[in-house]
Amino acid sequence: MNRSYPNTRLRRTRASAWSRAMVRETVLTPADLIWPLFVTEGEGVEEPVASLPGVSRWSVDAIAARAKEAVDLGIPCIALFPNTQDGLRSDDGAEALNPDNLMCRAIKAVKDACGNDIGVLTDVALDPYTTHGQDGLVNDADYVVNDDTVAVLVDQAINQAEAGADIIAPSDMMDGRVHAIRMALEMGGHHNVQIMAYAAKFASAFYGPFRDAVGSGDRLVGDKKTYQMDPANGDEALAEIALDIAEGADSVMVKPGLAYLDIIWRAKQRFHVPVYAYQVSGEYALIEAGAAVGAGDRDALLMEKLIAFKRAGCSGILTYHAPLAARLLNG
Ligand code: PBG
Repeated sequence: MNRSYPNTRLRRTRASAWSRAMVRETVLTPADLIWPLFVTEGEGVEEPVASLPGVSRWSVDAIAARAKEAVDLGIPCIALFPNTQDGLRSDDGAEALNPDNLMCRAIKAVKDACGNDIGVLTDVALDPYTTHGQDGLVNDADYVVNDDTVAVLVDQAINQAEAGADIIAPSDMMDGRVHAIRMALEMGGHHNVQIMAYAAKFASAFYGPFRDAVGSGDRLVGDKKTYQMDPANGDEALAEIALDIAEGADSVMVKPGLAYLDIIWRAKQRFHVPVYAYQVSGEYALIEAGAAVGAGDRDALLMEKLIAFKRAGCSGILTYHAPLAARLLNG
C-alpha cells in the first residue's frame, strides 16, 4: 500500500466530531473499570487518605454503599484492601487467615448488598497484616521466603473465596503461587473463582500512597526488590506472565500502569488472554497534583491516560479514578 498526498489526507476523517467518532479505534466504557477501595474498622466511617486526595478508607457498611454506587455507575468490579487494626498485625500476618477479619466482613457485606451484580476482587499478599510490611514471611536475614509464604497465601486465598470473593488477585510475586492457589480452589469446590495474577509487578516508587492507605508504609523496612521486578526488565515480565498463565491464571495484570505500556502491549500480542493494568496510587496522586498546579485539566488528563491502556491492549484498568471516569463516560 502506497498512500500519498493529496490522494490521502489523513485530516479528512478528523474534520468533524461525527467522523472522528466513526473512525475511533478504541473505546473506554465503565465496564472497563475496576474500582480499588480501602476498608477500615468502625461504622459509618469515612477516613480521607492524606496522600490520595479524594480517596478514603470506608467502614464495612460504607463499603457496601460504595459497591452499590459502582453498580449504578456500570462499574463491574471492585477491589478491596484492608487497613488492619494495629493490634492485629503480626510477624506472620496470621490475621489474613481469620475468617472474620476486616476483609472477609467487607466481602460478605458487598455480596449481601449487591449479590452477583458486581464482582469482588481480593488481593492476596500479607503486607496489610504484617508488622514489617512485607508481602510474605521473613526469615532471620529479613529475606521473604518463597515456599512457606506460598503455603500461607493459599490459605489466605481460600479464606477470601469462602467469604465470597469472585476474583483472587495474588499481588505478592512469590514463585509458584498461582498454581498452588488454583489447585486449592479446585479442591475446595471454588471452580468458578477466577485468578487475576499480578503477573508483572514491578518494584515501583509509585506505590507510596497505597502503603499509607493500608498502613504498611511506615512499617516497611527496606524494599521489595527480592520479589517485585526490576523496572528495567521486559523479557522477564513476559516470562512471569507466561508462567502465571500456565499455572492457571484467568487473566493477568501489569502494575504500575502507564510507565509499563510496552509490557501490556507485548503481553497482549503474545498471549491472547485478558490483560489488566493497575493505574496505581502514585499515578492517581500525580494526576491530581498535576492538575492542581496547572499541568492540565484533571478530567482530560485522566481520560487520555485511560484510553492509552485500552489502545495498548488492556481489557480493563484498576483505577482509584473509576467513579469519576464512569461519571464522565456516562455524561
Ligand atoms: C500489596 C499491594 C501493593 C499495591 C497493591 N497491592 C503495594 C506494594 O506492593 O507495596 C499497590 C497499589 C497502589 O499503589 O495503588 N502487595
